[in-house]
Amino acid sequence: MCGIFGYIGSKNNAAQIILKGLKTLEYRGYDSWGIAVKTGNKLTIEKHVGKIGNAKTILPKSSLGIGHTRWATHGGVTVANAHPHADCKGKIALVHNGIVENSEKIKKELLTKNHKFKSETDTEIISHLIEEFISKGTSFTEAIRAAFQKLQGLNAIVVASSDTNEIIVAKNGSPLILGIGKDENFVASDASAIIPHTKEVVFLEDYQMAVLNSVISVFDLKTGKEIKPESTLLNWKIEDARKGKYKHFLHKEISEQPHMLQNVALSYADQAKELAFIIKSAQGTFMLGCGTASYAALAGTYLFSNIAKIHINFTVGSEFEYLEDYLTSKSLLVPISQSGETIDVIDPVVKAKNKKVKIAAIVNVLGSTLYRISDYKFLLGAGPEKAVISTKAFTAMYSLLLLTAYTLADKASEGKELILKASDAITNVLTMQDNIKKTAEKLKKFEHIFIIGRGLSYVAALEASLKIKETSYVHAEGFAGGELKHGVIALIEKGTPCIVIAPNNETYDEIISNAQQIKSRGGFIIGIGPKESQAFDIFLKTDDIKEATFLPQIAIVQLLAYYLALARGIKDPDKPRNLAKSVTVK
Ligand code: G6P
Repeated sequence: MCGIFGYIGSKNNAAQIILKGLKTLEYRGYDSWGIAVKTGNKLTIEKHVGKIGNAKTILPKSSLGIGHTRWATHGGVTVANAHPHADCKGKIALVHNGIVENSEKIKKELLTKNHKFKSETDTEIISHLIEEFISKGTSFTEAIRAAFQKLQGLNAIVVASSDTNEIIVAKNGSPLILGIGKDENFVASDASAIIPHTKEVVFLEDYQMAVLNSVISVFDLKTGKEIKPESTLLNWKIEDARKGKYKHFLHKEISEQPHMLQNVALSYADQAKELAFIIKSAQGTFMLGCGTASYAALAGTYLFSNIAKIHINFTVGSEFEYLEDYLTSKSLLVPISQSGETIDVIDPVVKAKNKKVKIAAIVNVLGSTLYRISDYKFLLGAGPEKAVISTKAFTAMYSLLLLTAYTLADKASEGKELILKASDAITNVLTMQDNIKKTAEKLKKFEHIFIIGRGLSYVAALEASLKIKETSYVHAEGFAGGELKHGVIALIEKGTPCIVIAPNNETYDEIISNAQQIKSRGGFIIGIGPKESQAFDIFLKTDDIKEATFLPQIAIVQLLAYYLALARGIKDPDKPRNLAKSVTVK
């Protein structure tokens, strides 16, 4: 949640550099934004409500600044609550990601010491707490170290002072990445904001702080001792993080899937082999994820059962703590996450680690929290995913699981072939966009859409419903084909749209019969799969490629959701209301 970007260096347009960085990070939150820059011995803060969009900044020229794009947690969406937050004297500017769980208590103490608060945020108390330590003669760095240690919860802060020429950052939980440039240094919540400037980064660990000036120095937060940071070279390309010829990242990322799947097919063999080995060696495997990633995990349970004849447990991340009692040090946890920062995934991982459970994470972002805390790491290599709606990361997750299941069944090359065919199949889907657009036009006036599938296609139905809901704000519900008649069929009226995910497998006859049940009550049926049926009012055809048929079917619903959003007049499908790409609060 929330995006942070800081710059210090030889250029004098810090505000513009930060604004650009914040635009890249806007997917992390877009309620409001703000920047503080230092000129001489003065900090100037500019804040606005709403998305950054094409906003311009009126801040003065400067070589040092910090910025923030917010996803509100404490306090409403107002200019006063936007970051950066200052202390009483305006000598400190601070941006924050996380939640200070003991903020009320600290605020009470600070109020007795006459600190004046301008916002309702938990963030502002940190600025005043630092000010309080400084007023007792503590240095800026030490004041931040002392203040940060008083905070409870998972937090990351980036602080500037009017009196010093440095940016100080500290973290526990929320991500902070330091970028090492030539005569300039950066800090950001996510590497994609740093790539345009430098590929050399340091992933700050929990309980570390760093001082950025002409160099970067990293310290242990608890002891204050300097640590030699290890830098990493990023392998993402700048173009990956830009829209290029596309109007929206969502469209770009859907369109990147064929190319990405080729990479998966050609280079995931070793990862699949290793994951297969780890799963085979464990006494019980638990997969989890949130949102779209949870559907990849759920799909995994079907793939492992059908192809590898192995049972895998599944739950969404936030339910894990109520189901984990039977885990032992011989169990394996496979968390799946695009960002690697989702708190509802990190939390179970930390709990499982305490029980000595081994963690094999499937994650897209190198250096993310999940990546760092796991015993085994499987990088998705889907490249930066910028749209809040997850598309290519999901297909990468599914493909890795499919390959692993085939590897476990000693049929790795068949798995690879299927992924290559899925790449071609999605290329075909991309040529059907006019048809998908027309279908979206037909659906745009409806407020409810039902989606059914059986087996793996039930998971596809769940993912399709999430895509449609979050992209177009249409109420969409995915059901196991057999379940609709147990109640929800009561909602079918004349014209109610129902999408039927119908691969050419053992589920076909029964799902078509479910489609007929809906049709005979007036439902309007959109069939997606390789095989036409009389039940379908609209048919969107895919290639027939066994379990990999799931992938072009998903590509069709991704595009359908996208065009439905556009048809319903949604201006920016990359940033749906109320959502954030990376949810780092509970
Ligand atoms: C948020 C996003 C979803 C995403 C989920 C899990 O809720 O809005 O699109 O699927 O987080 O994210 P992760 O990064 O863990 O895959």
